[in-house]
Amino acid sequence: MTEEDAILYRWEQWRRANTQYPGARENEIRRIYTLAHPRPGEKIWESGTGNGCLTLPLIEAVGETGEVVSTDVQPENIKELQEAVTARGLAVKALLLPVEQPLLSSEQYENYFDAVCSIATLHHFDDRLKRPGESGRIEALETFYRMLRPGGRLILSDVLGDTETSRYFDTIDTPERAAPRGHPHDFFTKERLLGLLQNTGFKNIRFECTDVPWKFVSEEEARWFVHTLHNATVSEEESFAVAKKMLGFKEKDGHYELGWGLFFLEATK
Ligand SMILES: C[S@@+](CC[C@H](N)C(=O)[O-])C[C@H]1O[C@@H](n2cnc3c(N)ncnc32)[C@H](O)[C@@H]1O
Repeated sequence: MTEEDAILYRWEQWRRANTQYPGARENEIRRIYTLAHPRPGEKIWESGTGNGCLTLPLIEAVGETGEVVSTDVQPENIKELQEAVTARGLAVKALLLPVEQPLLSSEQYENYFDAVCSIATLHHFDDRLKRPGESGRIEALETFYRMLRPGGRLILSDVLGDTETSRYFDTIDTPERAAPRGHPHDFFTKERLLGLLQNTGFKNIRFECTDVPWKFVSEEEARWFVHTLHNATVSEEESFAVAKKMLGFKEKDGHYELGWGLFFLEATK
């Protein structure tokens, strides 16, 4: 398998886990959707389509008078979203962007969007194995700002640096625990992120780092989800043992929860 095919397969596994158990990440998707508060007629850019788990509710909320532009660098993410949307008789602009230029760049979108939404994607704009540093993420924040209309809202969620979740990602940054390239991404601390947002020009920044545990009906389900999501090549038991130890796993109100924490922020242009 070429590295390109291996990366395609990695994201196929990621979609498979999310699509098979749509309830697993329900807490975080509900949180960002509530914060985004999408209204009929709004124009929204979603950066990082994934399997479309946030895109579809956004499309339904803005309705026929609104517009959702969802961008991603993985062709199959865009293709699957387009199929799901067409099957439901809805409309989306699902745009595949090159990995070297993973952001909207057309002048037609400058000062255009009422909201920019992105979850679990910001850290992907920098890759320790290719383009180290913060430049990709800084460019992302600047582009989000440029494409928002004055008064438009940025709704952003991702892993915060120096937390249990970021330490978990650092631990699985090996090809065996996350094939084929590990997880070579850094995460902003709160201070760094807020400083960058202010430098970019964002105002009224409201920030929180919240527990949004992943939910499962059984330990077997959790084990398969974690293993598949990160495309581990070690055994399911081995990959889940690390997750359990580092993130915590407990029974609660008739279901099981794996610890997960993300920041959620809202800011205006
Ligand atoms: C963890 S997923 C999150 C997807 C979706 N927002 C969700 O929460 O379900 C990260 C997303 O970043 C995209 N991605 C991968 N490499 C990227 C890159 N170099 N630049 C920008 N996005 C990238 C992936 O295709 C994927 O859709």
